[in-house]
Amino acid sequence: MKMTPFIAILNALALLPLALGRRLWNDTGVGTIVFEEAWTIPSLGGPASVGAPPFGQTNADLLANLLDVHNQRLTKMDQNGIDFMVLSCASPCIQGISDPDTANAMAVEVNNELARQISNNTLRFGGFAALSMHNATVAAQELKRTVTELGFLGGLVNDYQQSGSNNDTLIFFDQPEFDIFWEMVTELDVPIYFHPRVNVEPISTLLYAHAPWLKAASQEFAVTLSSHILGLCTNGVFDRFPNVKVIVGHLGERIPSDLVRINEQLRRELVIGMPMLLNVTSYLGTNLFETTSGNFATDLLQFHMKEIGLDRITFSIDYPFVPIEEAAEWVNSLSAILTPEEHTALKRGNAIKLLKLNN
Ligand SMILES: *[C@@H]1O[C@H](CO)[C@@H](O)[C@H](O)[C@H]1NC(C)=O
Ligand SMILES: *[C@@H]1O[C@H](CO)[C@@H](O)[C@H](O)[C@H]1NC(C)=O
Ligand SMILES: *[C@@H]1O[C@H](CO)[C@@H](O)[C@H](O)[C@H]1NC(C)=O
Ligand SMILES: *[C@@H]1O[C@H](CO)[C@@H](O)[C@H](O)[C@H]1NC(C)=O
Ligand SMILES: *[C@@H]1O[C@H](CO)[C@@H](O)[C@H](O)[C@H]1NC(C)=O
Repeated sequence: MKMTPFIAILNALALLPLALGRRLWNDTGVGTIVFEEAWTIPSLGGPASVGAPPFGQTNADLLANLLDVHNQRLTKMDQNGIDFMVLSCASPCIQGISDPDTANAMAVEVNNELARQISNNTLRFGGFAALSMHNATVAAQELKRTVTELGFLGGLVNDYQQSGSNNDTLIFFDQPEFDIFWEMVTELDVPIYFHPRVNVEPISTLLYAHAPWLKAASQEFAVTLSSHILGLCTNGVFDRFPNVKVIVGHLGERIPSDLVRINEQLRRELVIGMPMLLNVTSYLGTNLFETTSGNFATDLLQFHMKEIGLDRITFSIDYPFVPIEEAAEWVNSLSAILTPEEHTALKRGNAIKLLKLNN
């Protein structure tokens, strides 16, 4: 896809601070940094594909918030002390497009449009790349293009890539053919965010027709995505690529809450040929990070601090599915239980390192 001269100029402007050697961002020294924050373009579809809105909002409000960057979103950031927000394409985005050519072209379109929309305020906004994961080489090249040419901070995938004429092929990124992708992730040294998606049909109906309320965020998201994350672990992706950084939202999609059973049962699989060299706890210390997006559970945060350490945990919101005010009120309330150093690490310090904002 050709860039128009206009887009090329805007992208060059967005990259100016990078060309000068250092990213410029609105570093107040105290504000928060958030990076599971959704945005979309009209051609990817309306609220039907993005789930139920927060209390007091209509689907139209939710869609308007997803499409917006510089108005209500930025106003709420200012009012609630958010220094910097990384935007990414709302689920399922490219992972919901079964045709490879359509998916490849849409990923490029989404990434160029995101770069264009944030280009006049890169002090406040960054981007994660949308990636077509039908072909690992294509995904690796688009990640490289967006990081090196558009200044993006990493990539975000919405769980598995659906494929096939009946949407009946599910592509997971823990297979050997994705090594070429993880090589590129290692070379670029940027994180990949694993965000949930709803299942394709008929899986979703087979699993949830008995209780459709469990589709999406209450249950389906964590169940489906945690299997993909544990697939990366058990298939040895982190053994082959020890420097890869994968971010998991919603307080780790329940994995750090369940480590005793996960480790104990997987030890048995080791005996019968599972390729994983270490254990899931160890990858949580080296490769996996979690954010607090949409899961403001203070006791659970404290438990996870004991299980995986605060240096693996960062604040994020899940805007606009979660209101910014609610997130800000919760993160501020943590001053009652965290030391000032811990509080700063959770709100911004860990994110600055993970996203390499000051490199
Ligand atoms: C920087 O972020 C703060 C919120 O943390 C906001 O109040 C301030 O206006 C921002 N400054 C700029 C230049 O965007
Ligand atoms: C960036 O452009 C948008 C759209 O034209 C505009 O609403 C916004 O105010 C601009 N922001 C800055 C910082 O110039
Ligand atoms: C993946 O894309 C690359 C680069 O375009 C191409 O050479 C390769 O044949 C593709 N692989 C498959 C399995 O389609
Ligand atoms: C495949 O999934 C897309 C949405 O992701 C949907 O629009 C389409 O109808 C599905 N096709 C089939 C054959 O189910
Ligand atoms: C996980 O692996 C690490 C490093 O090999 C080891 O120190 C630790 O005891 C293991 N933990 C569990 C729960 O198996």
